[in-house]
Amino acid sequence: MKFGFFDDPNREYVITTPKTPLPWINYLGSTAFFSLISNTCGGYSFYKDAKLLRLTRYRYNNIPNDEGGRYYYIKEGDTVWNPGWMPVKTDLDSYECRHGMGYSRFTSVKNGLEASLLAFVPLNDNCEVNQIKFTNKTSEKKSFTLFSYIEFCLWNAMDDMTNYQRNLNTGEVEVIGSTIYHKTEYRERRNHFAVYSVNTPVDGFDTSRDEFLGAYRGVTDPQVVEEGKSHDSITSGWYPIGSHQINVELEPGETKSFIFVLGYCENPKDEKFTAPNVINKKPADELLAKYQTDEQVDAALAALKANWEDLLSKFTVKSDEEKLDRMVNIWNQYQCMVTFNMSRSASYYESGIGRGMGFRDSCQDLLGFVHLIPERARERIIDIASTQFPDGSAYHQYQPLTRKGNADIGSGFNDDPMWLVACVSAYIRETGDTTILDEMVPFDNDESTAVPLLEHLKRSFDYIVNHKGPHKLPLIGRADWNDCLNLNCFSEQPGESFQTFGPSEGPVAESVFIAGMFVKYGKEYADLCEFIGKQDEADRARSEVSAMNDAILKDGWDGDWFVRAYDAYGHKVGSKECEEGQIYIEPQGFCVLAGVGVESGEAKKALDSVKEKLDSKYGIVLLQPPYTKYHVELGEISSYPPGYKENAGIFCHNNPWVSCAETVIGRGNRAFEIYRKTCPAYIEDISEIHCTEPYVYSQMIAGKDAHFFGQAKNSWLTGTAAWTFVNVSQYILGVVPTLKGLSIDPCIPAEMGTKFTMTRKYREGVYNITVENDNKVEKGVAKLIVDGKELTGTTVVPYEKGKTEYNVTVVMG
Ligand code: GLC
Ligand code: GLC
Repeated sequence: MKFGFFDDPNREYVITTPKTPLPWINYLGSTAFFSLISNTCGGYSFYKDAKLLRLTRYRYNNIPNDEGGRYYYIKEGDTVWNPGWMPVKTDLDSYECRHGMGYSRFTSVKNGLEASLLAFVPLNDNCEVNQIKFTNKTSEKKSFTLFSYIEFCLWNAMDDMTNYQRNLNTGEVEVIGSTIYHKTEYRERRNHFAVYSVNTPVDGFDTSRDEFLGAYRGVTDPQVVEEGKSHDSITSGWYPIGSHQINVELEPGETKSFIFVLGYCENPKDEKFTAPNVINKKPADELLAKYQTDEQVDAALAALKANWEDLLSKFTVKSDEEKLDRMVNIWNQYQCMVTFNMSRSASYYESGIGRGMGFRDSCQDLLGFVHLIPERARERIIDIASTQFPDGSAYHQYQPLTRKGNADIGSGFNDDPMWLVACVSAYIRETGDTTILDEMVPFDNDESTAVPLLEHLKRSFDYIVNHKGPHKLPLIGRADWNDCLNLNCFSEQPGESFQTFGPSEGPVAESVFIAGMFVKYGKEYADLCEFIGKQDEADRARSEVSAMNDAILKDGWDGDWFVRAYDAYGHKVGSKECEEGQIYIEPQGFCVLAGVGVESGEAKKALDSVKEKLDSKYGIVLLQPPYTKYHVELGEISSYPPGYKENAGIFCHNNPWVSCAETVIGRGNRAFEIYRKTCPAYIEDISEIHCTEPYVYSQMIAGKDAHFFGQAKNSWLTGTAAWTFVNVSQYILGVVPTLKGLSIDPCIPAEMGTKFTMTRKYREGVYNITVENDNKVEKGVAKLIVDGKELTGTTVVPYEKGKTEYNVTVVMG
């Protein structure tokens, strides 16, 4: 069942009922000011850091699930309704929510009155603009009252929901005309305040939640709205809100529009006040002046759309597969931008107060983002590398505002180091900018320790070389990519964090997954070294990689698939010898995409085993058979009921690894089958089973052993976005940035027909690519023709500095 449809020309998903199985959200904001907005206008806003600088309040674990947002109440006679249906839930005569690229638009009609609400965060300003347009669709004159409503958060979201003995005394506001200033804690240590305003004189306002809602009432039935008159309340302590009252009259056919702005403003420390405790309103005045007219709003929206048009023109495909094109050209790249911006901080499943930026997460997010805005990827790389320790290990997380490593979680996740190599390599292959390797980058943010970035990569590489276990495989530490496989943890008490309990190192437990990563990114490190003329280091790296390759084939091979790990006793994890958890997905995907066992046949065997043992109709599950009891020597993975999360859920992040791997051995049909099974556009029709948004990936879909097989959770903030984009763009469509130019070597399914085209902007050039496949092969380039000239024995279009257009034909066969 569907709850909407894709509108590709407008790059929108159109939701046609507010009653989606779960809130279906969108993200507003590009760089500093961000909002989450659901299909019923729920959500919240923050500036840069969802924990420390939250503008509006949102209650996770609420009933109903998604209550709290930017709400507009329309009261006409005794009827009260909202353009997004929530919170009053009055039946609407029509409803539509369009989630687009950085904006959402709600259009609803009740009793012949149409309300169209547009919400977006402009490109270069720290505010959310809400333009609401009313049209009288009847032949009678209409009078109604509009009440706006937002609830302020007292900035630190964690403190805001725990420290009531203090917080109920601190709330302060100012109101001047139509503008409400929220200035809690501004008197002392903050130099920022929030502003909420509308571009018209108001007929009333409220800033006290209790006055607006009334005792024993909620946002579903505010007293002020019922009475039809604001109380003009000024809160002192308690719960600051912002609400405006506007009385509206509309002639038949007439349209009127109002522009609300919720903004974040800062003042220099010595210019905070114009009089004792009176805010200096200059930054607010300047901000609000920019959004006073519909023309200004139209121009800001047009600029936002133009920006997305430009970003999304960097990679496009046109094929017979409409759903594939839609995901590649629009939604997958859009989600890559969101994950790059948010890491794992704020979604409807990540509360914005927990994890900051993950080291491994951000490095992987960058793989799907680097082609969009390489300059931002470069800055991010420097931030990430600055949290590395001198021995090559790294803080597992860091805070976006301070960029400091997060001491609570510390280090010891032994896959982290090599992800740094992965993202620097991706950046250089994309841009050719090897100067990044000379950037002076500190360890643990201590500038006195700064060394060239290249040295950081060497330390990453050597961390693995210097931390091997009894089988010459990498030690796993606290965990590798799979945070729930905690082989040194041995936790017996509730409440102990699986991530941080137990020693951060163990001398025995080893990871075959990290071994696969080392082969893949160790080679890329060697290629980089060679490219910049460091042949000795390249040779050394290649010999380490080759030793690791041998170790995998010797002790990391179980006969029909790759072993997952060795535990702290030296017992195999993910082997026929195990009672539960005999085969895991990660080493099959990653070892093969790294090239391990491709020539000697293990690769094909491993992928056949994945198909036989792990596949299901909704995707490949993480392991089989699931753990049915708690294994103290394995940790969190066995704490989940069978079929959920890492315990045999369909973890969408690692499905693309297997799809990539299938292309490495040339099986385009199977690679695409795997891609399709978890791809949102392809499962839109089962939205009532899948439940999360049909335009973005979720972290997990419940596996075949789960009670709710096929149901997804944790949408939006997942490495799945980057990895599926890498999979589809580089492995399936086959367009790979290399150090020497763009390689084009597709591995495609029969569905792709005999011809498709792509455009790729790469460095200064636009590549117009036509792929011809009259022989319907799955892989293989018979001819590469560049600007009319045939190149032999290569898939790489050589990069020519300064050249701006390349016309490329790839003949498969
Ligand atoms: C979550 C984490 C990610 C980890 C994965 C598997 O998605 O954000 O870092 O790799 O789970 O445990
Ligand atoms: C939990 C989650 C896992 C995530 C980890 C990171 O273990 O199950 O997916 O990676 O937390 O904090």
